[in-house]
Amino acid sequence: MAYAEFAAREARGVSRAYERLSFAVAGDRELLDRLATLPPGKRQPNLLFGAVRLLGGPVDDPAAFHAYAVANWPAIEAQLRVRATQTNEAGRCAALLPVLAALPQPLALLEVGASAGLCLYPDRYAYRYGEHTVGAGEPVLACVATGMAPPARLPEVVWRAGLDLNPLDVTDPADVAWLEALIWPEHTHRRARLRAAAAVAAAEPPLLVRGDLVDDLPALAARAPAGATLVVFHTSVLYQVPAPRREAFAELVQALPGHWIANEAPDVLPYEALPQPPGEALYNLLALDGTPLAWTRSHGQQVSWFG
Ligand SMILES: C[S@@+](CC[C@H](N)C(=O)[O-])C[C@H]1O[C@@H](n2cnc3c(N)ncnc32)[C@H](O)[C@@H]1O
Repeated sequence: MAYAEFAAREARGVSRAYERLSFAVAGDRELLDRLATLPPGKRQPNLLFGAVRLLGGPVDDPAAFHAYAVANWPAIEAQLRVRATQTNEAGRCAALLPVLAALPQPLALLEVGASAGLCLYPDRYAYRYGEHTVGAGEPVLACVATGMAPPARLPEVVWRAGLDLNPLDVTDPADVAWLEALIWPEHTHRRARLRAAAAVAAAEPPLLVRGDLVDDLPALAARAPAGATLVVFHTSVLYQVPAPRREAFAELVQALPGHWIANEAPDVLPYEALPQPPGEALYNLLALDGTPLAWTRSHGQQVSWFG
């Protein structure tokens, strides 16, 4: 995504530091020229800012960022080449929960693009939809929900498995450091949430398989236990997948038994008429078995159910 668009549509109202920084990079010929030497998938704002934060560089002052980036470009470039944007946001479970809770229980969860697998524990987190709370313990996932009755119960999960091109390990400090660096600077609550969710996952690590969401899905789905509803789901993944592979995935997942939940940018899957999103910010679209249900904000902080 272009830096100016990231500033205006993703960072605005969410991270003042990243909004300022990405506007500055959008006009910074020296940095843009360096980024242009990298493959397209390695130029994104989240990746660059995360790499600089991982190395301890400043992201709160565009001039200091520029000076640091120019002086430390070889180290930054090395990180950009080996890392990927794999933000794992447990908060997205707040958007998934209403759908998961309404399916026939118990569930066998299979997440594609799982990163470290933190979204595989929707039954272990607590939720606050306005005044309504569900579940107990940490983290507590707060969500502004409109147009729906909040879920009355947590799902019953009997199997959880994830597929990712590059699974991260919540028990490995280097992987957790990268996940932390991917969290936007002002988002102290998200860092606390990451640590709490990582502790839940580390206590009972999920089955995470290195593989592709098309090539390796059938074999992993076949490992799901009989007697549970198989739910293949994904959040904020398909924007990283080329269009022909997205089409192959959609065809494949619909041929599997069970259900399919997508929480993705609205343009990555073919949907017919969609209502207007509730605001100017970027929204994801929550869909069950190809039917759109709601607009969601990217960290699960808002769900606007269709009327
Ligand atoms: C932005 S992260 C989102 C992680 C997680 N779904 C969440 O919402 O917190 C996208 C993840 O998708 C994975 N991914 C991208 N393309 C993939 C593919 N073809 N097959 C499997 N995983 C893929 C990436 O490695 C990355 O971990």
